[in-house]
Amino acid sequence: MEIQSLDLKPVVQPLVAWYKMNKRDLPWRHDPTPYRVWVSEIMLQQTRVDPVIPYYLRFMERLPDVYALADCPEDELMKLWEGLGYYSRARNLQKAACRIVEAGSFPKDFEGWKALPGIGEYTAGAICSIALGLPTPAVDGNVLRVLSRVSGSFSDIMLPAVKKDFATALRRVYPPNQTSDFTQALMELGAIVCLPNGAPLCARCPLRALCTAEREGLIDRIPVKAEKKKRRIDKKTVLILRCGNKIALSRRPETGLLANLWEFPSLPGFVTEKELAERIQGLLGITRLESSTHLFTHIEWQMIGYELHLSCAPPGYEWVTIEEALFQKAIPSALRCYSNHLKNLRYEE
Ligand code: ADE
Repeated sequence: MEIQSLDLKPVVQPLVAWYKMNKRDLPWRHDPTPYRVWVSEIMLQQTRVDPVIPYYLRFMERLPDVYALADCPEDELMKLWEGLGYYSRARNLQKAACRIVEAGSFPKDFEGWKALPGIGEYTAGAICSIALGLPTPAVDGNVLRVLSRVSGSFSDIMLPAVKKDFATALRRVYPPNQTSDFTQALMELGAIVCLPNGAPLCARCPLRALCTAEREGLIDRIPVKAEKKKRRIDKKTVLILRCGNKIALSRRPETGLLANLWEFPSLPGFVTEKELAERIQGLLGITRLESSTHLFTHIEWQMIGYELHLSCAPPGYEWVTIEEALFQKAIPSALRCYSNHLKNLRYEE
């Protein structure tokens, strides 16, 4: 089946009706102003719904409008975002907020939103259809899975042309007064019914009767998705350096991965206890910590860790109390294993 000639008209009303009855009660679905929808879509870009909810509620309480966001000190913004990952999202959100404040109003159309930092085709489509009533599709992995299965498409959903063709097919059938429901219904079906990895809940699907993959027994074979490139592996040895009641933190570079966030000092590669004892001056004691891994989009950090007690504080680090490290410094969740160790130390003391 050619995606360009796909007729999705029969999908619209059953899907919207199902959504109205079955949608999850999510905070950004209440009072869907451009600001609230925009922030939710940015948080949801690389993060699942459940972990986003508490962040979203806290963010809205502290930064209830675009002016508050534009004015928020960077460190505080990073602290609000701490644990969500992909911190450039928060920086772009603030850059965009400054532009909106300068312009005096939110963009009124798809192109205006897409021109803001951090907003691509998907996010602009989601914001405009959910908050502005425009017929602009938002096609992500969930939506591609739903549409590929319904239409029985074997096209590789990693190809930009395939996404574009599905967006075109959707644009033709957007219900003018239900743009928000239609966009979110597609997302919702992908999130709670048309699940990946051969486990869809077809018995509950409003599109079952229309679904080619279900009818032809192809659910396990669709969607077709080309293998992603393998991640680069970075091995590191994370050091919790302690001196008196202080620990050492350092700030990451201003650009690149986790820019400007705080981290524990580390050494490249896996360094043994013996090697550390040789390299580090004034070492009073050493304890091995848990190993940990963290997956970024293109990189995998494999980490081992040590807690080191030192007799004097070497320069070149920010020496802070454990409380300050935990409550005032934004430390990425990639290092959660070691921040958790700090939390445990607080209770021991
Ligand atoms: N994922 C991305 N946008 C979403 C939304 N508005 N609701 C639920 N899940 C989403």
